Amino acid sequence: MTRRSVLIAPSILSADFARLAEEVARVEAGGADLLHIDVMDGHFVPNLTVGPPIVEALRKVTKLPLDVHLMMTNPDSFIPEFAEAGADYLTVHVETCPHLHRTVQSVKERGVKAGVTLNPATSLSSVEEIIPDADLLLVMSVNPGFGGQHFIESVLEKISRARQLIDRTGSRAALEVDGGVKVENAARIIQAGADILVSGSAIFSSSDYGATIKAMRQSARKAMPGTGAAVARR
Ligand code: DX5
Ligand code: ZN
Repeated sequence: MTRRSVLIAPSILSADFARLAEEVARVEAGGADLLHIDVMDGHFVPNLTVGPPIVEALRKVTKLPLDVHLMMTNPDSFIPEFAEAGADYLTVHVETCPHLHRTVQSVKERGVKAGVTLNPATSLSSVEEIIPDADLLLVMSVNPGFGGQHFIESVLEKISRARQLIDRTGSRAALEVDGGVKVENAARIIQAGADILVSGSAIFSSSDYGATIKAMRQSARKAMPGTGAAVARR
């Protein structure tokens, strides 16, 4: 991916689930680039959320690409269902995939973009071999399971290394960051090398979703490579 724009992916985990279509329409009208859907299974993470029926329902009410983050053990058994439901990206955790290459191929064979992600304490080296095949690398900046947690600052350095890994290997993977992202830290995360910012509570707890998305994008854009901020970093 060319790094010309900052993409914002609101996470519906912090939306009002009783009015989900309306909430999605508000972030879509507010300038969201993707819709991030957190799937939690109560095993890999200590929380339960949504499955393929919600992805299918959302596919009918939005044009936004559906960025599905699978926080579940044995994601392989659900890949066909999520693909069928209309996911555009399916992202699996390396911690749950002993045969990661097979899993990534299985996602891609269904015409879905394949993402790989890793927890804050998981080494970046765990994705080194798969990065040429991945469409997306998601660096978790909180321990997955809940919205509204604080961004783990030490992950910034890992984001920089992830950027270097993608650039060095010529991978086309987009670099996404998820957890504790808000207007105040968006610039630093983009400056470290991210392409896509996932943000849940910061957007859905604000009174004007569009204004928050816009503020996040403006702050992040100033930190894009080629601007004064990015040059000063080197
Ligand atoms: C955390 C989820 C995130 C979460 C982000 O396990 O993967 O996508 O919704 O929420 P905030 O932005 O509130 O940290
Ligand atoms: Zn997520």
